[in-house]
Amino acid sequence: MQLTSEQQKMFDGEMGEAPAQAMQILVALGKIYNAENLIPVSSVQVSGVSYETIGDAGLEYLQDYVKKSAKVNTLTFLNPAGMDRDQYEKMQVPKEFAQKQIQILDAFQSMGITMSCTCAPYHIGIRPKVGEHIAWAESSAVAFANSVLGARTNREGGPSALAAAITGVTPNYGLHLKENRLANILIDVQATPKTTADFGAMGSYLGKKLKSKIPAFTNLTFAPEIKLKTLGASMAATGSTALFYIKNITPEFKLSDSPEKITFTQEELDSHKKDLNIGEKADLVTIGCPHASLEEIEEVANYLKGKKISNKLWVCTAKKTKLLADEQGYTQIIEQAGGNVVSDTCMVVSPLNQMGYKCTACNSGKAAKYLSSLQKQKVVFGDIEDIILLK
Ligand code: F3S
Repeated sequence: MQLTSEQQKMFDGEMGEAPAQAMQILVALGKIYNAENLIPVSSVQVSGVSYETIGDAGLEYLQDYVKKSAKVNTLTFLNPAGMDRDQYEKMQVPKEFAQKQIQILDAFQSMGITMSCTCAPYHIGIRPKVGEHIAWAESSAVAFANSVLGARTNREGGPSALAAAITGVTPNYGLHLKENRLANILIDVQATPKTTADFGAMGSYLGKKLKSKIPAFTNLTFAPEIKLKTLGASMAATGSTALFYIKNITPEFKLSDSPEKITFTQEELDSHKKDLNIGEKADLVTIGCPHASLEEIEEVANYLKGKKISNKLWVCTAKKTKLLADEQGYTQIIEQAGGNVVSDTCMVVSPLNQMGYKCTACNSGKAAKYLSSLQKQKVVFGDIEDIILLK
């Protein structure tokens, strides 16, 4: 693998222990995937932020980097944490969990990382351009960046993303190379998904069929950005999809020579939407997987205006978006109805079990999968008006 002289110096430890450790991780990864070189990245999203997912071993790994004076070398931000740092008492997060989570966030902050914990950085102005190389780790953000924005990223793991942040480079393989970005399965959409839950169910169903293939959709005419983030997140969760194309909508649409062809029907959509619904009465309703945009928070506020809800409700979003929702009065409407807008965290990486929740509702195919498999929740799945119970 070819290294520039500066990269070689980092590798050899001439620029400190932390850059050496990071460079050695990237070179090892590059060798596994036969990368010819390392390429600069304009931004990095680091995953492995919640104490729920990384535990004490992850915290020690980060604190070791801090001891070695690690500093990031490019714009770097975080995936959601296990709690909203400003509202964890209101969320009833256990004290011991909160203390550990704060230590994790402090470790990242001391490395110079922007303290924004969101899986939807594109809603807060971080929108790489077509062809721009980045190193993002959150699977839904990776699918969105590659597909809807046309940027170039592999799905990084927590350690490789942090190594890219410290060095400013990533190995040049996989979806950084144009020959690996050709769709090999064409999906003729003979259904009319409209709501977030529709797009979530469609993504969840198709992801299982795709098994890491790159899909290209035809006949999907209604596909606004906020629905595509749900589609991508759900396909990423059930099928590791990291790139998809939509005819006349995504900035690129590139096919291999003879792609496989399948059809997605309304019957498949309707029956999978029902199959995802395995719970009865949710004690917590969650909206915002991936993190809600201001427009989506407005939609919830409009639905709840003047009403009272009987289950707990979290609308998960980025802190920057929550501040805008506060300014617009949407947060207050949701709180008056009995819900909360929580920032920098989400239903899947917070300690739901420790907080006593057993049955959780969502309108996201990704959340439906992980609430059930990781959080051991019974899942109620559906459109907002079906999952939020009114008094
Ligand atoms: Fe984001 Fe959490 Fe869903 S990280 S994509 S809200 S599972």
